[in-house]
Amino acid sequence: MKELSLNILDIAMNSVTAGSTLINIDLTESHDILEIRISDNGCGMSREMVENVTSPFCTSRTTRKVGMGIPLFKMASEQTGGTFSIVSKSDREFPDSHGTVTSATFLKNHLDYTPLGDIIGSIVTLIQGMGENIDLIFTHKSDTLDVRLDTRQLRETLGGEIPLSTPDVLVWIKEFLKENYNIT
Ligand SMILES: Nc1ncnc2c1ncn2[C@@H]1O[C@H](COP(=O)(O)OP(=O)(O)O)[C@@H](O)[C@H]1O
Ligand SMILES: [Mg+2]
Repeated sequence: MKELSLNILDIAMNSVTAGSTLINIDLTESHDILEIRISDNGCGMSREMVENVTSPFCTSRTTRKVGMGIPLFKMASEQTGGTFSIVSKSDREFPDSHGTVTSATFLKNHLDYTPLGDIIGSIVTLIQGMGENIDLIFTHKSDTLDVRLDTRQLRETLGGEIPLSTPDVLVWIKEFLKENYNIT
């Protein structure tokens, strides 16, 4: 993928499919490292499943039946010399604390670093697609940035009657994020 923001969207859509009610996307940047962490309270995965989804294409003789979202994200990080991890608790084994945390670090000065790209676009697309039963907390922190969006607060402000996927609301979210990023 050409932009990490598209990888982030892909990983967050996994959280939507997993039946999460709350998704956290946290970006933390230092001078030379970007850390991306996506966590959810969805159905989680078994240990075997986690192993299977991180290895691309094949596991011994069986061709991988699922997509490539996770392997691509892992590869994008590791090709910069960064690290990747996925920790998951399945709802079967952990009925009260299930969910998944996918995190990766990226060395920004590496030749194979993929730029973050249009993160605002990805966040707005996610909010548009995730439906009204899921909330998102998005943060992006660096020396110069302190971006935070919490759709729970937004819903409260909107009074619970206007869906977040309403065009006017999506435009508002986009403008809010742009202001937070100091983009004019
Ligand atoms: N956050 C998550 N919660 C539960 N299951 C997940 C999560 N992320 C991924 N999975 C499981 O791993 C599989 C592989 O994910 P991915 O590599 O993104 O490919 P795809 O989404 O196209 O299937 C998913 O189909 C899903 O079964
Ligand atoms: Mg996916």
